[in-house]
Amino acid sequence: MPVEIRRSVLFTPGDQEKRMLKALTLPADMVCFDLEDAVAPEGKEAARQLVRQVLDANPPVPGGPDRCVRINALSSDEWRSDLAVVMDARPPALMIPKADDPVTLARLSQELAEEEARVGLHPGSTRLYLIVETALGVLRALDAGIAVGQRLAGLLFGAEDLAADAGLVRTPSSVEVLYARSHVALAAAALDVPCIDQVYANFQDPAGLEQEARQARTLGYTGKMAIHPDQIAPIHRAFTPTQAEVDHALRLLAAAQKETHGAFRFEGRMIDEPLLEQARRVVRVARRAGMAH
Ligand code: COA
Ligand code: MG
Repeated sequence: MPVEIRRSVLFTPGDQEKRMLKALTLPADMVCFDLEDAVAPEGKEAARQLVRQVLDANPPVPGGPDRCVRINALSSDEWRSDLAVVMDARPPALMIPKADDPVTLARLSQELAEEEARVGLHPGSTRLYLIVETALGVLRALDAGIAVGQRLAGLLFGAEDLAADAGLVRTPSSVEVLYARSHVALAAAALDVPCIDQVYANFQDPAGLEQEARQARTLGYTGKMAIHPDQIAPIHRAFTPTQAEVDHALRLLAAAQKETHGAFRFEGRMIDEPLLEQARRVVRVARRAGMAH
């Protein structure tokens, strides 16, 4: 079974047919049709119908992006209507914004099972991505992930909503969200799922985006949200190891095969098990990106 690769997750408003069709032709690893913040309240019903229709009329093609639908927050009245309409198109995954209450998430998982049965899907087969973007959500990220069990596909970190919720003042360095952003990455690692970094809103600044994405990678993130097609390439560059990193990791792992000691010397540095595991991780990501065999 191919391992999922989630470097870029491109958001496209669910009320814009032309853009959704375009998104499906782009090289993003996943596209997410949005029914939440990108759609005005009066446009929600039309957007649901449009998302269902676009998904139905455009079945997945090999090599194309995976698909996901962001429904409305579980604190709103909209999410049940979202499910009732979009589940007809059997999306492989849903994204849950402002995920912060394990009890409500467990209820969603149950109601989703009923929808799955209604549309002939195996109950439990729809994956869930949780966006952690409230103060409570950050503090409860691990429990939120556990609450949806095997459905969990990944965590995302939303800096702007968190700033609004917690009274943070956004700065270019993102230092004000560092604790929360790291916390979410650790929760995802503990849950053994991918972790997708915050949106970089200035879509005309590819260098700034790539720098922020590289910073996210150092924190443990495996991908980043995108809001514009031009953001896909810089994100992929940041989350794909360089050839030099891959070559170093392969040399190191080859050298380790010949070692009998747990700790040994390699190219002037001490190497032991955690460094080998880091090298294995680089090679795994490179293989998924087609860079190493
Ligand atoms: N998904 C798919 N296609 C997109 C896109 C997106 N998110 N954003 C832009 N495009 C397409 C446009 O349709 C256009 O295609 P064309 O050249 O074939 O006509 C091309 O990319 C260039 O678009 P551009 O003119 O540079 O963008 P814009 O100024 O019209 O729109 C935004 C800018 C930010 C409003 C738009 O990119 C957008 O809506 N992004 C998603 C916002 C969102 O979903 N937010 C919620 C989640 S955080
Ligand atoms: Mg939001």
